[in-house]
Amino acid sequence: MDTRMNRRQWLKGSAAAATGLLVAPEFIACRRQSAFFRSSLETEEIILLDNNESPYGMPPEAREAVLDSLARANRYPHKNYSELAALIAEKEGLPEDHVILGAGSTEVMNMAILSYGVKGEILTADPTYFDFIFYAEQAKCPILRVQVNERYELDLDAMIGRISKDTSLVYICNPNNPTGAIVNKDKLRAFCEEASEKALVVVDEAYHEYVEDEAYASMVDLVREGMNIAVTRTFSKIYGLAGLRVGYGMARPDILKNFERVQMNFASVAYSSLRAAIAAYGASSFISSVRGKNRAARAYLERELDRLGYPCIPSQANFSLFQVRRDSKEMAADLEKRGILVRPFDFAGKSWLRVSIGTGGEIQAFISALEQVQPVPTLRSPTHLALEEI
Ligand SMILES: Cc1ncc(COP(=O)(O)O)c(C=O)c1O
Repeated sequence: MDTRMNRRQWLKGSAAAATGLLVAPEFIACRRQSAFFRSSLETEEIILLDNNESPYGMPPEAREAVLDSLARANRYPHKNYSELAALIAEKEGLPEDHVILGAGSTEVMNMAILSYGVKGEILTADPTYFDFIFYAEQAKCPILRVQVNERYELDLDAMIGRISKDTSLVYICNPNNPTGAIVNKDKLRAFCEEASEKALVVVDEAYHEYVEDEAYASMVDLVREGMNIAVTRTFSKIYGLAGLRVGYGMARPDILKNFERVQMNFASVAYSSLRAAIAAYGASSFISSVRGKNRAARAYLERELDRLGYPCIPSQANFSLFQVRRDSKEMAADLEKRGILVRPFDFAGKSWLRVSIGTGGEIQAFISALEQVQPVPTLRSPTHLALEEI
C-alpha cells in the first residue's frame, strides 16, 4: 500500500473537511491534533508518520478476499462474524463466546466506557492513548490520570494506590501509546489481579504483534482464568487493515453482554472487512516479515535520533517517541512543511514528537527533514530582525 498522498488528493481532502463534507466541524475541532485536517501543506508528497499505520499494507490474500467479497456484499455478514470470532477464540484458547468484534478496537473500548466507565471513575495513565481519553471525556466520565514514572513506563505502584470505591474501569495500554514502552509481565499480572477485584480492567494490546521483548506478555491468560478483565486488539496495525476497521475484545461472556447492550449495531464490521481480517489472520509469514521490517526501521530510526542528539524512549511498537527542545507543535508544523506528518505531545514538562515507523525510505526522508529543522527555538534578537528587514 502506498502511504504517500499527492498534493491534489491532500488539498481535496482538506477542502472537503473544511466545508464539513468529510466530518462535522466539531469533530475536526476535537481532532485538532490531526494535521490531516489542515491545508497548509506546500509540498508535492506527504509521508504519513502520524497514525501508526502499517506502511506495508495488507497481506495479498486479504486484498484478494476483499475483491472476492464484493460479489456477495448484498448479504449481511453474520456468518463471517462468527467465523472470525471462532478463529480468534481458537488461537487464544478461549471459548467462542469470549470474543466480541468491533469496527476497530476503538468500538470495543467505547463499549467498555459506555457500560463500565460511566458508572464511576476511570483510572488510567498519563500520557496514554488519546482516543480512549477522548471517548471517555465525550461520555462525561471522571478520569483520574497517573503520570508515567521516570523511565516513562506505566507507574503501576502509584496507580494501584489510586483505585477507590468509585473506580469502575481501569485502562492499561501495553505497549503504551504514545511512549511505546511496555510494562513487565509479572508486575502487570499482579496489578491486574488486584485491580480487577474492584473494577473492570481493560488492557489495550493494539501493538501486541510487534512486541519481541520477553518481559512482555499478553493479559489474555487472565481472561482465560475468568478474571474481571477485557483485552482489546486490532487488525489496524500489523495486519494493515486500518481503513477496513476491524478490532476485537476478549472477556468473560457476562462482561461482553454488558458491552453488547451499548453497542450501536451488531453488524458494525462490514462483510468485506471481515473477509479481509479472516484472510489476514492466517497470513503468518507476511505478519512476521512486517514485524522484522518494523524492527529494522525502528532500530535505524533510534540510531539516527541518537546521532542527532534527540533522546528517544525505547519502543516495542511501530512508533517511537523522542524529546525535542522546542515547542512540539511548532516543530511538527516545520516537519509538515517538509512533507512529513508526525504527532506532537507535551507531558512531564517536556516536548515530544511521536513518529510512526514507516518504510526504511520514509524513515530516511524523515531523518533528513529533521536535520533541516531547527532543533532549538530561534532567538529573534533585534539585530536579527533588523537584518531580515534589509
Ligand atoms: C493504543 C491504541 N489502541 C487502539 C487503537 C485504535 O485501533 P482501531 O483502529 O482498532 O480502532 C490505536 C490506534 O492508533 C492505538 O494506538
